[in-house]
Amino acid sequence: MAIKHIFVIGAGTMGNGIAQTAAVSGYQVTMMDVTDEFVQRGKTTIAKSVEKLAEKGRITAEQKQAALNIAPVTDISGVAKADLVIEAATENPDIKFKLFQDLDAIARPETVLASNTSSISLTKLAAATQRPDKVVGMHFFNPVPLMSLIEIVRGLGTSDATVALAREVGVQMGKTPVIVKDSPGFVSNRVLCPMINEAVYALEEGVSDAEGIDTVMKLGMAHPMGPLTLADLIGLDVVLYVMEVLHRDLGDSKYRPAPLLRRMVDAGYLGRKSGKGFYEYK
Ligand code: CAA
Repeated sequence: MAIKHIFVIGAGTMGNGIAQTAAVSGYQVTMMDVTDEFVQRGKTTIAKSVEKLAEKGRITAEQKQAALNIAPVTDISGVAKADLVIEAATENPDIKFKLFQDLDAIARPETVLASNTSSISLTKLAAATQRPDKVVGMHFFNPVPLMSLIEIVRGLGTSDATVALAREVGVQMGKTPVIVKDSPGFVSNRVLCPMINEAVYALEEGVSDAEGIDTVMKLGMAHPMGPLTLADLIGLDVVLYVMEVLHRDLGDSKYRPAPLLRRMVDAGYLGRKSGKGFYEYK
């Protein structure tokens, strides 16, 4: 089936980045969030991003206009007209399971339901629907317009045709797809979050300060950002949640979350989004 219309659920950091990238890549896009304020905030972020990318000549005036034309909505009834749904709602299993049940009831039978989840089992999400063969992970990376990877996550029941379709859309969106099995943290977070967690342990044990740890990884390992700066970008709550999933689902104590990470989340120090994490933000 040719994909023309993509319905993106969630207008937060990941949702608006996905919606923008899809629109710039030629898809008709609807972006939904639960309140008009959230969806308008997402539109404002997109407008700033495409302004910057157009100024730098990385997108054309037409592509910029396509992103500005994204339709903002506050309910999911429009899913009935979509060819593909990409869900990027809050990373909360209860919200996502309920959403997938609702989407399954409204979307056309042939519509593929994709999730951007970074840690919830695709197989379990698929089991909440009557179309497990048409449920797939499309895991994007922050900032979505700049990062060129997409993990395509194959649940136990995902069909080859669904994986192929997700892959094709990923390529059309300018991303390099890597197909991974539905396993806790997939590849990305299975490797990334334990590294960040270890950096938090090193900080907690006073091996170095935050700048020192980040500088070692930036200059010594050529990472574009140090692990603590990256944790602030991702959100400390998200990193903690991924570590809890790895710890619980893989059952290995090597994944235990650093106590300092937990304390910072308890304190509301979530990184950039709260204005304070390992660093302070205006
Ligand atoms: N849209 C448009 N422009 C953007 C942008 C966006 N969304 N985000 C950043 N930029 C711009 C910046 O404003 C900046 O513009 P100027 O040069 O005009 O100031 C430009 O991009 C470059 O940014 P920086 O100067 O900050 O420099 P950079 O070269 O370090 O690039 C980066 C930024 C691409 C984010 C780079 O630091 C990087 O790759 N960092 C690592 C990001 C990463 O690992 N992401 C994955 C997180 S994990 C995840 O998302 C999945 C999960 O499940 C947890």
